[in-house]
Amino acid sequence: MEKKIIAVVGATGAQGGGLVNAILSDPDQEFGVRVLTRDPKSDKAKALKERGAEIAHADVNDKESLIKAFKGAYGAFCVTFFWDHFSAEIEMEQARLMAEAAEAAGLEHLIWSTLEDTRKWVPIEDKRMPTLQEKYKVPHFDAKGASDKYFKDSKVPVTLLRTSFYWENFIHFGMAPKRGDDGTLSLVMPLEEAKMPSMCVEDIGRCALGVFKAGKQYQGKTIGISGEFLTGKQMAETFSEVFGEKVKYVSVPHDVYRGFDFPGADDLGNMYQFKVDFEEVYCANRDLELSRKLNPKLETFHGWLVRHKEQIPMETQTA
Ligand SMILES: NC(=O)c1ccc[n+]([C@@H]2O[C@H](COP(=O)([O-])OP(=O)(O)OC[C@H]3O[C@@H](n4cnc5c(N)ncnc54)[C@H](OP(=O)(O)O)[C@@H]3O)[C@@H](O)[C@H]2O)c1
Repeated sequence: MEKKIIAVVGATGAQGGGLVNAILSDPDQEFGVRVLTRDPKSDKAKALKERGAEIAHADVNDKESLIKAFKGAYGAFCVTFFWDHFSAEIEMEQARLMAEAAEAAGLEHLIWSTLEDTRKWVPIEDKRMPTLQEKYKVPHFDAKGASDKYFKDSKVPVTLLRTSFYWENFIHFGMAPKRGDDGTLSLVMPLEEAKMPSMCVEDIGRCALGVFKAGKQYQGKTIGISGEFLTGKQMAETFSEVFGEKVKYVSVPHDVYRGFDFPGADDLGNMYQFKVDFEEVYCANRDLELSRKLNPKLETFHGWLVRHKEQIPMETQTA
């Protein structure tokens, strides 16, 4: 029987890459995968082709390219790339184009990788955190949540998939524990005592595959996935255990974090404040049991860290 094709946006990246891996390594081999990329000749695209993926050119700013790349597929996984441009408006426009292209191509199921529009809980006039880009509180969350409507309005059956903080941020996003002048390692995260849902990107992919495999079950639904709900202290303790050296958890005030000197610090400062102030809601929006049902291989942070220890850019103790 011919395999149903899933077209994956961001397939050479983290979330999409997780789904491509999940599909290619699925023992059931129910689905085939189509990698959407701006550069079909890149090493990453070529490596995926060698593993059995179809490759299609597409740019999320170009609706025609998306229609072409979606055509003939059964489903699609759609994600946007906030940190490439830092603009909520661009993100919303790209989401709209993907939703319209999916409908034009006649897809049968689409997963939109989304997050909460935090303005539902922190209205724009709420002074607890600054308003950013004129009308957002957490631009990279709000733009995704506000874009849900494009997918809900589409004729394509959609699953809105709320993801969680990825552990890969400790590898690629500059979030690994750092050694201070006093020689001790600290994990700096303005999470206070709150528990934060988190997971690895391979599990986002495996959960997304679980959603596709379930057919109609999650169509028309919003679901949230996570691997574990962990406090900053628990994450620091896991680092200490795996690296065999004490890692201290340091929760700086949100205002201090917003003032850090890296692009997007204000957005992330607001994000952490939202996660702390609305801990209950934010955790309740993600279902550990469902995540495990969709993906029985769901990893723990400890297991993930042991497997990825060598990739964490952490200055280890010299003898
Ligand atoms: N970090 C976290 O903890 C976290 C948690 C939840 C959600 N998120 C969200 O995840 C999103 C990013 O996803 P990711 O981490 O999977 O991305 P990523 O690893 O940065 O992957 C980006 C991939 O997308 C492709 N891409 C970039 N611009 C494109 C365009 N204009 N058209 C088509 N493809 C394009 C690129 O592929 P080619 O070069 O091959 O075209 C690239 O390999 C962000 O919006 C972020 O807010 C992040």
